[in-house]
Parts: sequence; C-alpha cells; structure tokens
Amino acid sequence: MSTSARSLEGRIGILEGRSALVTGAASGIGAAAARLLAEQGAVVWCADRDEEGTQKIAEEIGESAVPCRLDVTVEADWESVFERLISAHGHLDIAVHAAGIAFAAATVNTPFAEWRRVMAVNLDGVFLGTRHALRAMPETGGAIVNVSSAAGFKASAGACAYSASKAAVCMFSRTVAKEYRDRGVPIRVNTVCPGGVKTPLWSSMPFFQDLVKKTGSDEGAYKALEAQDPGTRFAEPEEIARAILYLVSDDARFVTGHDLVIDGGFIL
Ligand code: NAI
Repeated sequence: MSTSARSLEGRIGILEGRSALVTGAASGIGAAAARLLAEQGAVVWCADRDEEGTQKIAEEIGESAVPCRLDVTVEADWESVFERLISAHGHLDIAVHAAGIAFAAATVNTPFAEWRRVMAVNLDGVFLGTRHALRAMPETGGAIVNVSSAAGFKASAGACAYSASKAAVCMFSRTVAKEYRDRGVPIRVNTVCPGGVKTPLWSSMPFFQDLVKKTGSDEGAYKALEAQDPGTRFAEPEEIARAILYLVSDDARFVTGHDLVIDGGFIL
C-alpha cells in the first residue's frame, strides 16, 4: 500500500489501484463494505459461502468485483481463493473479514456443537483469513479489518459463544498488529465493533423471529429492541462500512491494534 496521503475528502477513488478481499460479502456489513471499497476504486474480491448472494452483489458492483465462493472455516477454500487472487494481482492490499454467525441461548442450554460452530466461523475464520492475507501482503504495507462486535466488550446474556468469539477476535487482532508494529512493517490490523446493525444476522435468532411475528416486520422488531434501551438505535450497515473504509485508507496510516466501537454509546 502506498504511504502517500490520499484524503477522504471528496471520497472519490482513495483506494484506486488496490486489491481487496471482503468475506461475508453476500449480505449486511460485508456487502456494504464491498460496495464502498469498490466505489473508492479498489478491485474487490467478494467472498462468501452463499454463492448466489455473492454473485448478486458482484453483479451490482460491476467490473471491479470478483465473486468467489469461500467457506471461511475451510482452509482449502482459502488456498484456492488466494491462488486465484495472487495470480490476478500479485499481492493483496486490503482484507476485511466480516463473515460471521450468531447463536442465541442461555449458556446452560448451549450445545457444544453450537459453541464450536460459532467459534469456527467467527474466530477460526478470522484467523485463517488474517494469516492468508498477511502472507499475501507486501511488507511495504497492507490493512486488515476484522469485524468484531460491541458484544465482545459488554456481556450479552444469552450469547456466550458469540461474545467470547468476538472478544477473542479483538485480542487476536491486537496481537497480530503488535507483531508487525514490533518489526516496523506497516501492515495494520484493526477491528470494528458494531452495536446492533440492521442485517439478516438477527433473523437467525429465535427471540428475534418471535419479535418479528409479534410486530409484523423486521423493522418492528428493531423498534421493539430499541425501546428496551432508550437512547440507542440500530445502525445501517453503511455506517459500519464507512468506519471500515477509514481503517483501510491512508487516513488511518498511524492506526493499528485499535478496536473501533461503533454503537452510539451502547457499551457506556
Ligand atoms: P449477515 O448475516 O447479514 O452476513 C453475514 C455473512 O456471512 C452472510 O452473507 C453469510 O453467508 C456469511 N457467512 C456465514 N458463515 C460463513 C462461512 N462459514 N463462510 C463464509 N461466509 C459465511 O450478518 P452481518 O450483520 O452483516 O454480519 C457481519 C459481521 O458483523 C459478523 O461478523 C457479525 O458477527 C458482525 N456484527 C453484526 C452485528 C449486527 O447487529 N448485525 C453487530 C456486531 C457485529
């Protein structure tokens, strides 16, 4: 990555000439990040296990998107995506790891298989992605953003695996950031930690499905949850994508090992 300062002002083409890979790109935060990075000039590899969704986002973005099927928990998938990516670009400049899942249940009722499933996607997936990205980034620079959660800071009753996986993503990311900082190599690793965001992630949780039934829509369910904590609100995925853009841009060239909480004060 070039160290020349390209400002966010104007917001046109600040990632021109860069290669980026975004996981979880078929939906929600990953899709919003893929769109914004491409809008700013990057060639974006849109990776997700949802092949159809990935294809759709890539078509919407146009020629600067490359759709690819990737299960973040499968090392062979990472190898084949990186083989293609390196032969196309020679190296990777930016990695955004947004693929993730949630599981909601009291700890006492959480099956071991669910615990492991959440850890596999949210933590192992971030480890595998970060390690492959590091191997593909030139020592002249690179930026990695791992998507954690405010739930990694503030305990969420009924989300033990999710919260633990997200707290681990923060410490993992800081550790990698320190390894590169100690060597004076400008490969930066940061996390974004959103509060509630309006995405399909919520539909996988039974309590949210009940709220949708009661209120008649996802929007109604979000409103019901917001009412439980006046002063907070659900964010739009684009609000998180803007923070990701900042962290991968040269404007954040002195920012590494940082957890950027974007939650309107939820964790206070
Ligand atoms: P989403 O459900 O809209 O998108 C998640 C994407 O990850 C989906 O496209 C899904 O197919 C993909 N995915 C799941 N497992 C995968 C696997 N094994 N391999 C490849 N792709 C896989 O959810 P959302 O909200 O956009 O989530 C993105 C990230 O943001 C997740 O890490 C989530 O934990 C985190 N987050 C979300 C919040 C929210 O309120 N929606 C709040 C805080 C963090």
